Amino acid sequence: MANELVEQILDYLANHEEANSLDIADAFNQDHQKIIGAIKSLESIGDMITVEQASRKKWELTAEGQHVVEHGSHEAAVYNAIPENGISQADIMKSVPYAKIGSSKALAAGWIKIDKSKNSVMVRKAVPSIVDSIQNHLKDFSNIPDNAKGDYKKRKLLQEIIIKSVNIRKGSNFSTKIVKQEADLTADLLVNGAWKEKKFKPYNFDALGSALEVGHLHPLLKVRSEFRKIFLEMGFIEMATNNYVESSFWNFDALFQPQQHPARDAHDTFFISEPRTSSNFPNEYLEKVKQVHSKGGYGSQGYGYDWKIEEAQKNLLRTHTTAVSARMLYKLMQQGEFKPVRYFSIDRVFRNETLDATHLAEFHQVEGVVADYNLTLGDLIGTLYEFFKKLGITQLEFKPAYNPYTEPSMEIFCFHNGLGKWIEIGNSGLFRPEMLQPMGFPENVNVIAWGLSLERPTMIKYGINNIRDLVGPKVDLQMVYDNPLCRLQK
Ligand code: PHE
Repeated sequence: MANELVEQILDYLANHEEANSLDIADAFNQDHQKIIGAIKSLESIGDMITVEQASRKKWELTAEGQHVVEHGSHEAAVYNAIPENGISQADIMKSVPYAKIGSSKALAAGWIKIDKSKNSVMVRKAVPSIVDSIQNHLKDFSNIPDNAKGDYKKRKLLQEIIIKSVNIRKGSNFSTKIVKQEADLTADLLVNGAWKEKKFKPYNFDALGSALEVGHLHPLLKVRSEFRKIFLEMGFIEMATNNYVESSFWNFDALFQPQQHPARDAHDTFFISEPRTSSNFPNEYLEKVKQVHSKGGYGSQGYGYDWKIEEAQKNLLRTHTTAVSARMLYKLMQQGEFKPVRYFSIDRVFRNETLDATHLAEFHQVEGVVADYNLTLGDLIGTLYEFFKKLGITQLEFKPAYNPYTEPSMEIFCFHNGLGKWIEIGNSGLFRPEMLQPMGFPENVNVIAWGLSLERPTMIKYGINNIRDLVGPKVDLQMVYDNPLCRLQK
């Protein structure tokens, strides 16, 4: 029993000034590790014993040394293999293990002689008998002198190993009986006075303490804060995005998206049934939007259809944060005079998608908007390079694309080193005059904008292949607890 062993050790120590764990193991005929374990548990009981590290050298047979113990020294094996009339050297080499070293040692000892007078070299005994002192030495090497051990070490028959052990002595609280120590000073112990007789466990000030139950940021939030930092570094102001429910007017019409556009279908958009519609729109602006859709203006011929307020009133879950950008740009021009601005937002959008490993019905959109005089496609491209460089992405490609509200429009691709291929990461463009001018923007002001999802870079960053492992009921909370800080290499 473990406890028995602990008490045996205490008894042993009671009769010894100092004791080494290896000696105790020998004395008790016990495994050394078990003795060490028992000493450790004694050590944790305050001041019972003192413990100090020790190491000892120990001689041990090598595998070759073991062979000698079992079969005789190499030179004796050679000697013993030689018959009355000698044997050819070639045969000795074949039949005796370690014959080469054995022959040369036997020759040096004068046990054998080599006869080269015949065709084949012969080996003969030179003395009638031998004593194999090497085998005798190795059979009980504890008593041979150190220099002999050194010689056997050179011949690789013995080796010296270092064994770690501990020396123990009686501590200030030494006793051969283990008194159970109290871990807590309880109210009971105080009231009945028992504390006076009790022994208390010393405090362990080195204990690490248990891990705190604290909150953990979801990886999406970590990546979002990195994106936010980048925008702030570039002088962008964050837009308020706290309106998931939006009217079709701001989500589509203000963005010059025609009312019969497929994206406005219930297949792509979640419409709200309660409240189903919005009615509070800036009238003057709404008229201009209606005008540009149905009849055109600002150099555009419009779509030439019958624009209906009922369609614009329908409430929905915003399908993109560009609805927020539209509201902000409208608000900007309501201040009367144009001033260059940089806006950004990172928040949730909703699309009635077929769900699969990379698509959910909601995701986060990262959106950047810059309004200034005479901006060009070059400004957009330059800004995108600068933005993505801060994410550690330096290789970009652009592909012409179509959005109802931007012209020209470009899909953004980046080279993904890990995947070794180009992947689409975003969409961008210059907002159309049909969107900006009804808001009151001067003709020489352009607005460049881009959008991307937050989920995609997060999945790449954290090596997550299925979006359901990142968002939704299947998320492993341990993943959220354990995932590392997000640092985008800049
Ligand atoms: N709103 C676009 C989308 O949903 C992204 C975008 C933003 C494109 C701004 C151009 C300009 O993908």
